[in-house]
Amino acid sequence: MIYRPIALVIALVLAPPVLAQDAALPEWRAADDYAAAAANVDPALAMPLINGDPEATDKAWACASCHGDAGQGAETIPRLSGLSVGYIVKQLHDYKTGVRQNNNMQYVARTLTDEQMAALGAYYGALDAPPAATPSLGGDLERGRMLALEGDWNVDLPSCFTCHGPSGWGVGQAFPAIAGQNPSYIHAQLAAWKAGSRANAPLGLMQSVAAALSDDDMRAVSDYLASLPPPQRLPASR
Ligand code: HEC
Ligand code: HEC
Repeated sequence: MIYRPIALVIALVLAPPVLAQDAALPEWRAADDYAAAAANVDPALAMPLINGDPEATDKAWACASCHGDAGQGAETIPRLSGLSVGYIVKQLHDYKTGVRQNNNMQYVARTLTDEQMAALGAYYGALDAPPAATPSLGGDLERGRMLALEGDWNVDLPSCFTCHGPSGWGVGQAFPAIAGQNPSYIHAQLAAWKAGSRANAPLGLMQSVAAALSDDDMRAVSDYLASLPPPQRLPASR
């Protein structure tokens, strides 16, 4: 038994960078490809979608009406600012194709063109100083800190930061920032992965992570992540 967790650690530490470069695994490269495409698009194309067409009377589906003027989100609506461009664009594609399911976002994404999705990613990915979040789920912060930094080998759980970076600020385009994200949103996503209703992580990585978490652990890690500073990266590094 003792060998199993050790093998898992090695596999997890090695897997993301190795797989990210493997041409035979396009799933890992999707976020990189989307980011490269977004670098050639004018983010201004996204403005009518973000704030609503000035001529239109119904602005209910403008991004800012739900995600806020600073992309900060609220409750189960995610903060978009501070996420990597490639991750944002991948999610929009996943909603459009139904790989990721949510009634509101599937409705929003259904008519977006590739160019509009790229422009939206470029806009939100370049917003600086993302707003911070506040723990709100009554989770055990000390337990949450342990899960984020060390994982828990009693339940075969690698640390969150193995994949999400040493400060939870994300790694490259495919591993999103989770520090400073709205805790109700993080909790809802972990519960969705555990229930199987979100199933769009490359190679099913988040399903196995979420499967190992009890609801108390989900609240603990969501609140701990919310207590951390949100990602602060230079636009050039995204
Ligand atoms: C009616 C409210 C609403 C509107 C309008 C809306 N969103 Fe969302 N958005 C949500 C909710 C709720 C979620 C979380 C859905 C889920 O649980 O999968 C979400 C999730 C997302 C995500 C996934 C983020 C992540 O961290 O994985 C992205 C990207 C996103 N929205 C972008 C946009 C963009 C771009 C627009 C405008 C074109 C937009 N949204 C308009 C409510 C909205
Ligand atoms: C083996 C690698 C790996 C580990 C370990 C891992 N994650 Fe993830 N996580 C991912 C990947 C890859 C994604 C992006 C999924 C996608 O493309 O939709 C992700 C996405 C997420 C998201 C969605 C972010 C968003 O904005 O919607 C949350 C929340 C999350 N992880 C939380 C956690 C937590 C909490 C832990 C630790 C308990 C953890 N992850 C451990 C790989 C990992």
